[in-house]
Amino acid sequence: MRFSSAIQVAALLGLTSGRSIPGGHIVHEKRSVPNSKLHKRVSPDVVLPVRVGLKQNARALEEAENWLTEVSHPDSSLYGKHWTLDEVVEAFKPSDDAIETVAAWLIKSGIAKERITHSDNKVWLAFDATTKEVESLLHTEYFHDDQDRALVAAHEYHLPEHVSEHVDYITPGLSKKPALDDVSTCDQVITPHCLQALYNFKAPDPHARVSKNNSLGIFEQGDVYAQEDFNAFFAEYTPSIPNGTHPILNSIDGGEAPVSQGNAGGESNLDFELAYPIIYPQTTTLYQTDDAFYANGGGPTTNGVFNTFFDAIDGSYCTYSAFGETGNDPKFDPVYPDPNPGGYKGPLMCGVYKPTNVISISYGLQESDVPAYYQKRQCSEFLKLALQGVSVFVASGDTGVGGYPGNTDADFYGCLRNDDVFSPTHPNSCPWLTNVGATKVYPGKTVHDPESAVFDPSPSFNYSSGGGFSNVFQIPEYQRSAISNYFRNHNPTYPYYYNGEYNNSKGIYNRNGRGIPDVAANGDNIAVQVQGKKGLSGGTSASAPIFASLINRIVEERIKVGKGRLGLINSVLYENPGVLNDITNGTNPGCGTLGFNATRGWDPVTGLGTPNYPKMLELFLSLP
Ligand SMILES: *[C@@H]1O[C@H](CO)[C@@H](O)[C@H](O)[C@H]1NC(C)=O
Ligand SMILES: *[C@@H]1O[C@H](CO)[C@@H](O)[C@H](O)[C@H]1NC(C)=O
Ligand SMILES: *[C@@H]1O[C@H](CO)[C@@H](O)[C@H](O)[C@H]1NC(C)=O
Ligand SMILES: *[C@@H]1O[C@H](CO)[C@@H](O)[C@H](O)[C@H]1NC(C)=O
Ligand SMILES: *[C@@H]1O[C@H](CO)[C@@H](O)[C@H](O)[C@H]1NC(C)=O
Ligand SMILES: *[C@@H]1O[C@H](CO)[C@@H](O)[C@H](O)[C@H]1NC(C)=O
Repeated sequence: MRFSSAIQVAALLGLTSGRSIPGGHIVHEKRSVPNSKLHKRVSPDVVLPVRVGLKQNARALEEAENWLTEVSHPDSSLYGKHWTLDEVVEAFKPSDDAIETVAAWLIKSGIAKERITHSDNKVWLAFDATTKEVESLLHTEYFHDDQDRALVAAHEYHLPEHVSEHVDYITPGLSKKPALDDVSTCDQVITPHCLQALYNFKAPDPHARVSKNNSLGIFEQGDVYAQEDFNAFFAEYTPSIPNGTHPILNSIDGGEAPVSQGNAGGESNLDFELAYPIIYPQTTTLYQTDDAFYANGGGPTTNGVFNTFFDAIDGSYCTYSAFGETGNDPKFDPVYPDPNPGGYKGPLMCGVYKPTNVISISYGLQESDVPAYYQKRQCSEFLKLALQGVSVFVASGDTGVGGYPGNTDADFYGCLRNDDVFSPTHPNSCPWLTNVGATKVYPGKTVHDPESAVFDPSPSFNYSSGGGFSNVFQIPEYQRSAISNYFRNHNPTYPYYYNGEYNNSKGIYNRNGRGIPDVAANGDNIAVQVQGKKGLSGGTSASAPIFASLINRIVEERIKVGKGRLGLINSVLYENPGVLNDITNGTNPGCGTLGFNATRGWDPVTGLGTPNYPKMLELFLSLP
C-alpha cells in the first residue's frame, strides 16, 4: 500500500457567473477569448495579494515629450540637465484626485486604511485580502489555473465608473502571475521554495563537492518514475538541477526503472521530486523492489512487504530464523525465481546491495494485515540496520487512527473489533525506525504561521496523519517520558486497554504501545509532475522523503567534518525536542472519532513536530 493520496485533478466545472453587478459599475477588464484553464474556484478564505495600478498623471504623459526635448536638444538651455528618479516619480505620479478617489472607494468597501500601502513609485495601492473580500469588491470570481494552482485569475472584473477612470489594471485580474520563489501561495501549492521557508534551510549549492558514499536511499515497489517528468519538474522549479538527473538504480528481484512517461507512478515521482531539490548534487539510490507480476499485486502471496528488500541489503535475512519464522514467508512474500509469465527468473537476491546511510520508505500496511511474528522479524532487521548507522524514515500512514476504508476484512473504516478500535500502521510501530506524520499549511495561512496536523475530509476518503499506539510493540525506553507527559497533560478522553488486548475490552487504543509518529513534515498540496502533467500530490508519503532528505544533508555535513552517519535518531530527538517545531493544532480522525489532538509536546498525530533545520544541524554536528 502506497501512502500517497491520489493526484487531485481539478474538475471541469464550467462558468457559473450568476452574480448581479450593481448600478454605477462598469466592466473594467474582460477577457476577449475565454481561458479554459480557469474553472476551479479559489477557496473564499485564501488570501490574495492585491495591487491596484493607478493611471499615471495624464498631464504628465502629454508633457513628457516636451520635457525630454528640453534635456536632450542641443539648443535647449536645459540640455543635459537630466532628472533624478525622484523627480520622474513625482512628475508622473497619479494625480492626488486619483489616489484619493481609489483609496476612498477601498475604505468605503471595507478595506481598512491601515491595510493599504502606497508603493514607493506611487503608482500602486496594495493590500492583502481574502478571495471573498476581493470577489465582492470587484464583482468577480477567481479561478485557479488548472496547470498550476499557484496561479489565480478572473475572467472579468468591475469597478464603479468614477473609480475605473483612475485605474490602469488590478492584479490578480485577467493576467496570471507565476510564482517561482513566491511563498505567498504555499497554502495552495507546496513548491521547493515553500519547504525551504517552512523548515528554514537553503537550496543546496548545485556545484558543491559531495561525498560519494552518501546517496539517499528510496524504497519503491510497483510504482516507477519517468525521467521526462523529472526533467519537466526540474526545469520548472529547480533549473539548477541538470536535465537527465536520475537515481542510481538498485534493482531487486526484477524491479525495473524508469518507465515511459505514460506509466509514471505518482509515489516514485513524488518521492524524488521532493528529495532532489533538498539534496542535489547529492545523489539518490532507488531500491526498486520486485518484478512487475508481484509488485503489482499478482499472485496470492503478495500481502507482505519489505522482506525481499531486506534480503537484498542483508544476505543473512534470506535464511535466518527469528520469531518462529525462517527466511521469507511463503504465505506473504514473493517466490523467486518467479514461475509466472514474464516473471524474474533469477534466484532470490540476497545481500547484493549495501544499505545507504539514510533510507526513505513511503509504503506500509496496518498491523492487522500481517501476523505479529512477521512484523517482529522485520523489526529486528530495522534494529540491525540502525546498529550499522542506517537511519530509516517511514510514512506514518494516511488514515489517521484508523485504516483504509474497506481495506481490512471488508469493514468500512478499516478499524478493529467492531470497526471501533484504532488500527496502528506497520512498520511504523517498530521502535527502531523514525516515522513521519503529515502537516499542512491551511488555506489563508503562510509559511510563517505554525503548521497544523493534516486533515482533508472527503466523502470517499478522509486523509489524516497516521498515528496512535501499537498493539504489537511496547513503548521503547526513549519514548517513555514523552508518552507519559502526553497522558499526564492531555489525557485522551477515550477508553483504553493494555498489551494489545482489545477483544475483551471496551477500550479503543492500547495504553502501553509504542507511540506513532515520532516527527512530522508537510504532506499536502505538493507540486509534482506526473505523466506529463503538473499536479498536486500529498500524503505522509511526502513527509517521509522530506525528513529523510534533510537528515541526509545533515549526514553530509557530518562527513565533511570527519564524523559518521547517524543511525536511529529518535533518542537524540526525544532528548532535544527543541530542534523541532512543535505542532499543537489539528487532529487525526478515524474509526468514527476525531482521533487524537495535536498538543504541546509529543502527541500521536505529529510526534515531536516538524524540522527546524538549523537547530537540527547544530545539534547533530555537536554530537561525536
Ligand atoms: C532533456 O533531455 C531530453 C533528452 O536529451 C530532451 O529531449 C529534452 O528536451 C530535455 N528537456 C529539457 C527540459 O531540457
Ligand atoms: C470522513 O469523516 C467524516 C467526519 O468528518 C465522516 O462522517 C465520514 O464517514 C468519513 N468518511 C470515511 C470514508 O471514512
Ligand atoms: C481534543 O481537544 C478537544 C478540545 O479541547 C477536546 O474536547 C477533546 O476531548 C480532545 N480529544 C481527546 C481525544 O482528548
Ligand atoms: C480479536 O478477535 C478477532 C476475531 O476473533 C481475531 O481475529 C483477533 O486476532 C483478535 N485480536 C486479538 C488482539 O486478540
Ligand atoms: C565514506 O567513505 C569514506 C572512504 O571510503 C569512509 O572513510 C567514510 O567512513 C564513509 N562515510 C560514511 C558516512 O559512510
Ligand atoms: C487548526 O487546524 C484546523 C484543521 O484541523 C484548521 O482548519 C485551522 O485553520 C487550524 N488553526 C490554526 C490557528 O492554525
